[in-house]
Amino acid sequence: MSRPVRVAVSGANGNIGYALIFRLASGQIFGPNTPVSLRLLEVSQFLPNLGGTIMELEDCAFPTLSDVKASDKAEEAFGDADWVILVGGMPRKDGMTRADLIRANGPIFTGQGKAINESASADARVLVVANPCNTNCLIAKSHAPRIKPENWFAMTRLDQNRAASLLADKAGVNVGQVTRMNIWGNHSDTQYPDYKNAQIGGKLVTEVISDHSWLEETFIPTVAKRGSAVIKARGASSAASAANAALGHVHSAVNPTAAGDCFSAGVVSNGEYGVPSGLIYSMPLFSADGKTYKVLTDFTIDDAARARIDASAAELVSERDVVKDLLGPAV
Ligand code: LMR
Repeated sequence: MSRPVRVAVSGANGNIGYALIFRLASGQIFGPNTPVSLRLLEVSQFLPNLGGTIMELEDCAFPTLSDVKASDKAEEAFGDADWVILVGGMPRKDGMTRADLIRANGPIFTGQGKAINESASADARVLVVANPCNTNCLIAKSHAPRIKPENWFAMTRLDQNRAASLLADKAGVNVGQVTRMNIWGNHSDTQYPDYKNAQIGGKLVTEVISDHSWLEETFIPTVAKRGSAVIKARGASSAASAANAALGHVHSAVNPTAAGDCFSAGVVSNGEYGVPSGLIYSMPLFSADGKTYKVLTDFTIDDAARARIDASAAELVSERDVVKDLLGPAV
């Protein structure tokens, strides 16, 4: 066994946390030879319940779980963390837009960014799941100058998975056949699930699916509004699929990407594809070594795609304006 990878999870007692931490402990993300040291952050009110979850973790007898501790103090929970998964925050309810959450959840990420800066490992990677995740990520990052800009991610893997699943269903193939399924922009209704660069069985989606008006008029809004549809149907925000997406993101970030494929996440823009620098914007990523990533530069963008990419960037600029008083020195 190698040295344990320490993973801190905020909001650990919530529905996403419950669906996340057992699979982290089980070895399925970091592999059977990498022990996992879990640090679970929760508000003090829920620490007794989290104690019950820790009992369950122990009762699973995972050989890969090295140790687990709960805390209500972010500096303590994030101490020496290699990965920090920020799930905690107010979830969206039916009738709320993600924008409604900005002012409610934004201040949490000021404190969490400072705590990450103070106590996480110098090479920590951070995945923000709590919505609005792109802007929450921007806030936290701005307070953590010690952590490299390329180590911050906002989760769009759930959108990527939704898009791949929908395309596979339409084409009547296994979802594993779908590659290069990138999500551009914000994890919101303005996101652009880019079917034009995606492939099914190595062929362009537009060659495999002949119904192009379905792709433009049904596929895009169905993916972009899927979170709301789940909330409406379930009466609660997605949890198991969100946890699964977080795990998929971490797995993609710590393993080399298959040749010809990519994975999506909100990352700090360096102006790629004309996206304003400094925004946390979802782009097609490729990791050659499971340590660093590059933004793929071979995606073709037509005028319709350009308009969608710009609209999502404009939304993120306006979200950034709404929280400008919460931003720290490392914007
Ligand atoms: C989702 O996409 O299911 C979640 O981010 C919940 C939401 O607010 O849409």
